Amino acid sequence: MGLQLLTVCYLVGSVTFILGLKMLSNPATARRGNLVAAAGMIIAVLGTIFLYHNAETGESLHNYGWIFGGLLIGGIIGTMAAKKVKMTAMPEMVSLFNGMGGACAALISLVEFNHLSAELAAGTTESSSVQSTVLIIVLGLIIGSVSFAGSIIAWGKLNGRVKDYSFKGQNILNLIFLAIAIGAAVYLVINPAHQMVLYIILVLSLLYGVLFVMPIGGADMPVVISLLNSFTGVAAACGGFLYDNKVMLTGGILVGAAGTLLTILMCKAMNRSLTNVLVGSFGGSHKNGDAAAAKAQGAYKEISVTDAAMVMSYANRVMIVPGYGLAVAQAQHICHELEKILEEKGVEVKYAIHPVAGRMPGHMNVLLAEADVSYDKLLEMEAANDEFKTTDAVLILGANDVVNPAAKNDPDSPIYGMPILEVEQAKTVIVNKRSMKPGYAGIENDLFFQPKTAMLFGDAKKVLQDLCAEIKAV
Ligand code: TAP
Repeated sequence: MGLQLLTVCYLVGSVTFILGLKMLSNPATARRGNLVAAAGMIIAVLGTIFLYHNAETGESLHNYGWIFGGLLIGGIIGTMAAKKVKMTAMPEMVSLFNGMGGACAALISLVEFNHLSAELAAGTTESSSVQSTVLIIVLGLIIGSVSFAGSIIAWGKLNGRVKDYSFKGQNILNLIFLAIAIGAAVYLVINPAHQMVLYIILVLSLLYGVLFVMPIGGADMPVVISLLNSFTGVAAACGGFLYDNKVMLTGGILVGAAGTLLTILMCKAMNRSLTNVLVGSFGGSHKNGDAAAAKAQGAYKEISVTDAAMVMSYANRVMIVPGYGLAVAQAQHICHELEKILEEKGVEVKYAIHPVAGRMPGHMNVLLAEADVSYDKLLEMEAANDEFKTTDAVLILGANDVVNPAAKNDPDSPIYGMPILEVEQAKTVIVNKRSMKPGYAGIENDLFFQPKTAMLFGDAKKVLQDLCAEIKAV
């Protein structure tokens, strides 16, 4: 009876994970999706604690003190961290939590190998299943340890405690570490009695995790975090296989698949291969930026705040393009204010959101949601591109690469092929940034030199405050 009820708990858990994930794909349902999946996880965990018993020995879980002690301490730390975290520090927190998931998977492998060794020594385990069990254990150990070490380095890099570090031949050394770890894993599967090899695999995997993330440029970290997230999912799925636990398997596979898809989507939206992100150090150095700055710039037109206010007040439709600079300036609230003032004057205002605008997936959506901008005003890239033709004025706020026409026109450009917001189709384009310096990709932007473009220099927050004041006065 208990086991049947536990199966129902696992089924409910698995279904809620899938539903929750689906709901997370839309900003309007994302919060509820998170709660639905969390409720499913609680059911699965409590079900395991109270209803599980070993089919062979009939034993149930009994060490409740340890279990609930751990849950309580982890719950308190998690709640406090989640309440304290600033929106801009979210990638750091995701990375740290992901690292904990990887560490759990690696610890499960260590513990289960010890159990297996004891059973082997006592002759109480079937030799036919030993090799497949060891294979799953070492897979979980390698992937979980890489994910743990890599995520901790990523966390350190994002909060500035760890600096980018690379040396000549580092990628080859990394591959050698990985190859030795895999070789040792194969050896252990064939000779499970050599327990020492397990610890060699652990050390090599941790080293690989550190070295593989060390050289990657700060701005590429979201892609790496997403990749490490998928590793943790696969490592957790190994635990699911090991314990024959369906909900752990489903959860692990979902995290693994979602992380992989997100990694692919981010690379596609930046028009870069994953290899380029992992070994290219693109965006980590300022090489490209220096080259672009050295290049002679053409003539560009400037616009005053008063003129920009006039253009927007007399427009029928305005499209705002938020970018990384808006996030840096923390100008989301005043941006929403501008939207309201314009709408009071009968101007239709929408936002065009590029999939990799900013520095993390969904960065702009989260930022604007924080300022209570209505979801239905946010247009995804394809929808926005259909509307630029009928837009009177585009206001670009701290965005650069995501509106660079070189992605369409210049086959030599590093961003060639990256889908962009085709703002140049609108009647007037106003670009707010602080200088003519390039953005993340470190390249010149021809848009700034086009006849219909006007530059509105200054910090996004200050410029928006001045714009709001001017428009109110028009
Ligand atoms: P960027 O191309 O980086 O341009 C941001 C611009 O904002 C800069 O040119 C900067 O110019 C301006 N800026 C900075 N601070 C400002 C401030 N306080 N006020 C006004 N402007 C300010 O940003 P984007 O267009 O959003 O493109 C995102 C880039 O990041 C893409 O290349 C993308 O591939 C990359 N990336 C994105 C992600 C994800 S998932 N979102 C992950 C990794 C990499 P000034 O210095 O002249 O002000």
